[in-house]
Amino acid sequence: MGGKLPGNIFRRGAGAHRDRRNPAWQRVNVGGIAVAFPLRVRSAAPGPIRTWSPWGREYARDPARYVFGTAPSDWGREIARLVRPGDAVLDLGCGEGRDGVFFAELGATVSGLDLSADGLAKARRLARRQGVSVRWIAGCMSEALPAGPFDLIFSCGALHYVPRARRGRLFRRLAGMTRPGGHQAHVVFTDRLVYEEKGEVVDYFTAGELRQAFVEWQILRNGERMISCAQDGSVHAHSVEELVAARPVVSAPRPAET
Ligand SMILES: C[S@@+](CC[C@H](N)C(=O)[O-])C[C@H]1O[C@@H](n2cnc3c(N)ncnc32)[C@H](O)[C@@H]1O
Repeated sequence: MGGKLPGNIFRRGAGAHRDRRNPAWQRVNVGGIAVAFPLRVRSAAPGPIRTWSPWGREYARDPARYVFGTAPSDWGREIARLVRPGDAVLDLGCGEGRDGVFFAELGATVSGLDLSADGLAKARRLARRQGVSVRWIAGCMSEALPAGPFDLIFSCGALHYVPRARRGRLFRRLAGMTRPGGHQAHVVFTDRLVYEEKGEVVDYFTAGELRQAFVEWQILRNGERMISCAQDGSVHAHSVEELVAARPVVSAPRPAET
């Protein structure tokens, strides 16, 4: 997932069309740039998917280079307005730590969880460089999660690596780990426009799937977008859905009136 997230975006459907000369390709206009890329159409009834993230391998390639950069993602910057000093924040699939470190710089108490030890080693170095302390946790988010509660559970381009068959359980656990009145903010790849990068195997979210996981929450923001990306050296686009939701504060039942 590109360093700019979600950047150079356009609204749902705008500008995306099949290439007339080659229907296996799609053309889109991303931030004024025409981009063509091979179109992958998924079968109507896909079976269970074994996902694979290429990012651990990429982080290890050059220990000195931050694949996603050290500045916060656009998504992290947008969500920063929800973060107050002292808040407990969990960054799921935190990678090399760009957003976790940013939230810690805002005064939050941050836990960052990722599969990749190489990503976390870079995250640790970034936190040291920025003079903040973050709890970095190596592990798979669909298996071991830190104990909550959290004021914000955040992810940027990571939840689609959890197979759909495991996502229901994950969302239920995350809901229980979010403080009443607290927030979750996620941006995920959707199957509207599929571009496979570096051999990754993604279980793309379908339209509305992310929102469905938060039906009982207050939806503060939800929408589909296209983002530009050039992580593999060629400019291309991904379709994403983003969501910001607040967990309802359930007030105690009033005593019966006499
Ligand atoms: C596209 S990268 C994004 C990294 C980071 N959020 C950022 O924006 O810089 C996706 C990250 O999710 C991590 N990841 C994938 N599957 C995971 C899982 N099941 N549990 C924890 N992390 C996972 C990968 O190791 C990778 O660092």
